[in-house]
Amino acid sequence: MEKLYVEGKRGLRGELVCHGAKNSVLPILAACAVTGQEVLLHNCPALTDVDISLQILAHLGCECRREGNDVAVDAGTLCCAQVPQPLMLQMRSSIVFLGALTARCGEACLTYPGGCDLGARPIDLHLDALRALGAQVTEEHGLISCSAPEGLRGASIALYFPSVGATENILIAASRARGRTVLTNAAQEPEVVDLARFLNACGANISGAGESTIVIEGVEDFHPCEFTVMPDRIEAVTFLAAAAITGSVLTVHKTDVDSLRAVLPIFLESGCQVTCQGDSVSLRAPERLNGVKMIRTMPYPGFSTDAQALVMAMLATAKGTSVFVENIFENRYKHAYELNKMGANIKTEGRMAVVEGVEGLTSCPVTATDLRSGAALLVAGLAAEGVTEIGHIFHIRRGYQSLWDDLNSVGAKIEQRD
Ligand code: EPZ
Repeated sequence: MEKLYVEGKRGLRGELVCHGAKNSVLPILAACAVTGQEVLLHNCPALTDVDISLQILAHLGCECRREGNDVAVDAGTLCCAQVPQPLMLQMRSSIVFLGALTARCGEACLTYPGGCDLGARPIDLHLDALRALGAQVTEEHGLISCSAPEGLRGASIALYFPSVGATENILIAASRARGRTVLTNAAQEPEVVDLARFLNACGANISGAGESTIVIEGVEDFHPCEFTVMPDRIEAVTFLAAAAITGSVLTVHKTDVDSLRAVLPIFLESGCQVTCQGDSVSLRAPERLNGVKMIRTMPYPGFSTDAQALVMAMLATAKGTSVFVENIFENRYKHAYELNKMGANIKTEGRMAVVEGVEGLTSCPVTATDLRSGAALLVAGLAAEGVTEIGHIFHIRRGYQSLWDDLNSVGAKIEQRD
């Protein structure tokens, strides 16, 4: 089993570059299936979740090739509308193939998806939306079957919560449906906007992505396209949190600065100096951070739930108390337990976590329980006394192309050993 060994108390200094966004490229790869075209994606990060998407596409009959961070997909050869359970269980985003396959093939048979364990993650919004678009959906023996032999038809759909995945499934399915779909209370995340940009680049007709109401005029024909995936905003937060907790100076290039607007004020409040120029963010951290009054995770443009664990790790050694309220997932504080093993003082109760900043953390063996918790432990390890051992690092690989190599290039000392 591979583990990370993070030597603490080393300052970081230098420049890092963000990779393509995991949460953008995954629905885009699923959307390739609906277009049935040749697609060339640039800035496609090398992540295990991306490998799974490519395996699903290959299983469906598509041809996929990777050269560095370019990935070519030919979805013209797609000949299957079923995704087997071992592939579905590898990640949450596998469910986005449901809309793509139903729209493209008139049928789809999938199982329930896997993904990070953050509490209950139902898919009722996805299934209800496909029903609204005219598909017959059945759930039996763990199989989800969708059937729309005459094709999908546009509809008015109102989500009771702006689910990212459901919005993505709807954009993809409705882009090939007959007629107009009007989606209200849609997710406004930048990755949803990137997906709409991709689909439009392939010939779809989607307007309003990034706002609460999205209008999708279904089209019959798509065309080949070349597309560059947006930068990963959570990778940027990870780099900045690493710099902040170690009292360092760091510049992160190729970021989407606008997508960071809910997180950067937290760094400012904690005492960091932050400068944005073009697509770069520079951070200069004080010797010790200040606690932050209240962080509430919200759908975009609010503070992202994916940044919660990273910022919590960063504030574990801040002066004063920080309070978190997790509003998106029912159980996303597992990292708090691991951080406490390192000497942090974090109390959680339901959706709330109270972080009493401690003078310092000490190293000990800890376990990544999901993707962002793993990255948060790495951030904490950078500031801890001694060498922190992190297990289950496969979680981290799902969402970061080269996190420890990147941090090592600016002064960290992180080793990966069996
Ligand atoms: C996406 O997950 C991201 N994953 C998550 O990234 C991210 O945390 C999340 O959006 C919120 O921003 C990908 O993009 C692959 P949701 P998703 O549907 O689509 C409830 C990371 O670390 N809900 O917006 O699964 C649900 O239970 C991760 O990169 C329903 O009730 O998130 C949750 O409470 C992990 N019914 C809330 O909505 C549904 O049918 C948000 O879920 C769907 C969702």
